[in-house]
Amino acid sequence: MQKAWFYEEYGPKEVLKLGDFPIPTPLHNQLQVQVRAAALNPIDFKRRQRPIFPSDFPVVPGCDMAGVVIGKGGGVTKFDVGDEVYGNIQDFNAGEKLKQLGTLAEFIVVEESLIATKPNNLSFEEAASLPLAVQTAIEGFKTAGFKEGQTVFIVGGAGGVGTLVVQLAKHLYGASHVVATTSTPKVEFVEKLGADRVVDYRKTRYEDVDEKYDFLYDTIGDCNNSFVVAKDDAPIVDITWPPSHPRAIYSSLTVCGDNLEKLRPYLESGKLKAVIDPTGPYTFGDVIQAFGYLETGRARGKVIISPFPSRHLPSSVPSAQDQCNI
Ligand SMILES: NC(=O)c1ccc[n+]([C@@H]2O[C@H](COP(=O)([O-])OP(=O)(O)OC[C@H]3O[C@@H](n4cnc5c(N)ncnc54)[C@H](OP(=O)(O)O)[C@@H]3O)[C@@H](O)[C@H]2O)c1
Repeated sequence: MQKAWFYEEYGPKEVLKLGDFPIPTPLHNQLQVQVRAAALNPIDFKRRQRPIFPSDFPVVPGCDMAGVVIGKGGGVTKFDVGDEVYGNIQDFNAGEKLKQLGTLAEFIVVEESLIATKPNNLSFEEAASLPLAVQTAIEGFKTAGFKEGQTVFIVGGAGGVGTLVVQLAKHLYGASHVVATTSTPKVEFVEKLGADRVVDYRKTRYEDVDEKYDFLYDTIGDCNNSFVVAKDDAPIVDITWPPSHPRAIYSSLTVCGDNLEKLRPYLESGKLKAVIDPTGPYTFGDVIQAFGYLETGRARGKVIISPFPSRHLPSSVPSAQDQCNI
């Protein structure tokens, strides 16, 4: 058995409990991974608060993880036992139920197509912080058909997704001018991520921003107000549901290990950096406090869970392939 956080009813963070779960066995194309660090995302608490996705209780929440491969099912070609990997294990686009066993567990299974090799220069915490947020951030630029040299206005530059949108715009996609909003205490932080200009939304209203932009990337669902900074023909992307203005296009992440693999050179060169909220990492025992903090809506980058309990899996646990051969 292993330890995992779970809930058996929808509700506030207090419905979370720590309990014993069977260690999952990898099926065809799946890896068995010992989780070393996980990241929380708003979807983890939204799913817990109400039935957004059909779920069978008990649900072990968590999408993002970084860890070490300890077993594999048949058909796995890219990874071996001992490899350090990271990824978002929940495929929202697959049209199936999400995994009941999320990443707030010591051991998980995941399809090899969803994960990538952890870049050597990243810690497990840094790697775990990236998958869901960076997959979302990238997709927004694709949804907008963003082109090098265009200007972009980012609403919410300090959050888990926003910190990556700012970096991608400035350092990877060649935006000619990057503007991002945040509150007063985080202005310098967002400037350091690469924004050419930071708009303190406590002091400046969208109406008072003097420029109009080629692309409005709204990470907080404020398009009803922020739309005024977009040029008349500019795409407006909203990553919250439902989109908050008639002109806003909803953009959702694509979960795919190859996308993470393509980021490797930028992560290894330091062009793109993982941003970990300084109140953490929260230990595996402090998951409820970590959710409490994320749910304030004030996170600065990603909220990380680490370390996880570290112990050796009994070698008697068979893989699915072994079981078939017994
Ligand atoms: N469509 C998708 O595929 C997808 C994927 C991931 C996330 N999402 C959704 O996108 C949203 C953001 O996710 P996230 O992970 O980035 O959340 P997050 O990390 O919790 O975002 C927190 C940040 O939001 C900022 N913020 C709050 N109100 C703001 C305002 N009025 N103006 C500017 N910034 C503001 C805060 O900065 P201040 O403290 O400075 O206000 C804080 O830094 C969530 O609703 C999430 O569910 C959608």
